[in-house]
Amino acid sequence: GKVAVLMGGSSAERDVSLMSGGAVLEALLARGVDAHRFDPSERDVMALRDEGFDRAFVILHGRGGEDGTLQGVLETLRIPYTGSGVMASAISMDKWRTKLVWLAAGLPTPRFRLLDAETDWDDVARDLGLPIFVKPVHEGSSMGATKVTEVAQLKEAWALAARFDSLVIAEEFIEGQELTAPFLGDKPLPLVRIAAPDGKYDYQNKYFTDVVQYHCPCGLPAEREAELQAIVMRASAVLGCRGWGRADLMLTADGRAYLLEMNTAPGMTSHSLVPMAARAAGIAFEDLCVEILKGAAL
Ligand code: DAL
Ligand code: MG
Repeated sequence: GKVAVLMGGSSAERDVSLMSGGAVLEALLARGVDAHRFDPSERDVMALRDEGFDRAFVILHGRGGEDGTLQGVLETLRIPYTGSGVMASAISMDKWRTKLVWLAAGLPTPRFRLLDAETDWDDVARDLGLPIFVKPVHEGSSMGATKVTEVAQLKEAWALAARFDSLVIAEEFIEGQELTAPFLGDKPLPLVRIAAPDGKYDYQNKYFTDVVQYHCPCGLPAEREAELQAIVMRASAVLGCRGWGRADLMLTADGRAYLLEMNTAPGMTSHSLVPMAARAAGIAFEDLCVEILKGAAL
């Protein structure tokens, strides 16, 4: 049948989604799938059913596409779609509530505080220790995020994040290795280790430079990697994630893991990490896209 590759959208990550979507579309076409670009910022998603689409590949990043709202429309239209359903998408787009769920399930995540105009900045610094990550609660690709190293920078970092979102979170900085853990269906893919010059794993360097180095295999002993993958699959299960996704985490030198966030429609650009992990597992990009599509469900 006819597949809509939902890409673009109107979130701050629109440009990233267009890169991801372009790659997915090309891959599906190469595998003989009758796939078509569909940008919900240009067209009404309600038209999908009338236009005869019988499945949707959701590769929209950020609000309005990755946050459950579009998934709700697809449920209503009865069009099976890739990735997580309404609830898991909505919670995962919300970094704060994701952490609350993980904590309730006994899963490790860095300490945090919500920030607002009345926040006592000294108190936040005392509480979380410096450095601190300040982020909009509902953004991706490091949009509006700042690594703060001095109390005096907190207010400005909050103000920047608040331009993106009505909720802003401050998170304790975890010193250690930055890892990301993609999964496909209910199986983990190999971990990827991200080696970025200090504080440089930002929007620009995620997509447009080669400043960041990625290692897959990640270099951890196999048992350790398997333990982290098990934590990630549990983290995914308690959020109710489905189909595919990618959790980001930190691993300290003394072996403690901390879950940072869950991405339910992770990047599929040439710089992205799910394709890298799949490749390390012997899965070509085209086959990865076909596998994700096979998982389309209601
Ligand atoms: N939010 C970006 C697209 C990612 O997680 O890969
Ligand atoms: Mg994210």
